[in-house]
Amino acid sequence: MAPPQRVCVTGGGGFIASWLVKLLLSRGYAVHATVRDPCDSKNAHLKQLDKAPENLHLFKADVLDCETLARAIEGCEGVFHLATPVPEDRIIDPQAEVMAPAVKGTSNVLKVCLAAKVQKVIVLSSTAAVDFNPNWPQDRLKDESCWSDIEFCKENEDWYSVAKIVAEHASFEYAQKNGLNVVTLCPTLVFGPFLQPTVNTSSKFLIYVIKGGPDIMSNKLWHMVDVRDVANALLLVYEKAESSGRYICAPNSICTKDLVDLLKKMYPGYNYVNNIIDVDRKAPITSQKLRDLGWEPRELEETLSDSVECYEKAGVLQDSAGYPCRLPHLFRLAGDQ
Ligand SMILES: NC(=O)c1ccc[n+]([C@@H]2O[C@H](COP(=O)([O-])OP(=O)(O)OC[C@H]3O[C@@H](n4cnc5c(N)ncnc54)[C@H](OP(=O)(O)O)[C@@H]3O)[C@@H](O)[C@H]2O)c1
Repeated sequence: MAPPQRVCVTGGGGFIASWLVKLLLSRGYAVHATVRDPCDSKNAHLKQLDKAPENLHLFKADVLDCETLARAIEGCEGVFHLATPVPEDRIIDPQAEVMAPAVKGTSNVLKVCLAAKVQKVIVLSSTAAVDFNPNWPQDRLKDESCWSDIEFCKENEDWYSVAKIVAEHASFEYAQKNGLNVVTLCPTLVFGPFLQPTVNTSSKFLIYVIKGGPDIMSNKLWHMVDVRDVANALLLVYEKAESSGRYICAPNSICTKDLVDLLKKMYPGYNYVNNIIDVDRKAPITSQKLRDLGWEPRELEETLSDSVECYEKAGVLQDSAGYPCRLPHLFRLAGDQ
């Protein structure tokens, strides 16, 4: 029997990466997952995954350290680059907190992939690199040709988006210059059950909507995707030989008030956010290119119910004495910080 195909996943203990590692193992891949601290209990769930004992290898690596990355990527045919911080709090030092890990980190991963003769690299970008473009006509769906306006994001001090835009642009530049096969995936807000023992930033968005708290929300149109569908999309773009360029991964959309109404019908027992102000609507985003490749995401209701069940089991919807629930800074209204 041929040995299993070997791939590397950076940031393997994260919310999306854990589901990707689980999927890859279930499909017979041998997986090198990088984590910053293999002994930290926050990564222990990886070792419990089916087929982990025989096919999962954890590597201690920081994306700012090429030597550690090289050890993890050596011998891999494919690499999924997911490791990037998604800060929950206001960013004080953009360079250290997001620009270096996202931009330098991605460039390090690509350099190491080229040296290790990796055949295909999937870089996880974000709709943060697609959606923030004030010049895009309101009546035209945003597709892969739409890029967020970097100056607009800088003016709003939206450093996470700036970092994702620069990292994705630089990935394509590097790929073209060096003949490396790089495809990017741009997911929107990701929810769904978490496998890791800590709560990640995008899950905290939904937890805030359910619990409510002091932060005002805008009634904007949010796009959403299930974490399991993001893992499926990552594997799909990896396995399909014809995939190229960027792929938007944003199948469901709903405005804040409708989301609250839908959740209230499904789970009437929570407080819910009630401080919602109306704003102008922007053009929605389409995932048609990814669907045309064969991607079939699930309905929003399934994602919401599986998320809430997971949160209830984890006990994160209970009130923590004395601490109001807060909306992660990334999702707050500009000027309302
Ligand atoms: N969740 C979303 O809504 C969403 C939407 C679009 C795109 N994305 C992208 O998806 C990716 C994963 O995000 P997530 O939501 O799964 O977040 P997450 O659970 O916070 O995972 C982020 C991962 O990045 C790792 N990391 C951070 N800095 C690192 C460094 N210097 N070296 C090595 N690893 C580092 C973290 O490792 P530690 O545990 O050691 O900190 C963690 O495993 C990111 O690229 C993010 O931009 C997320």
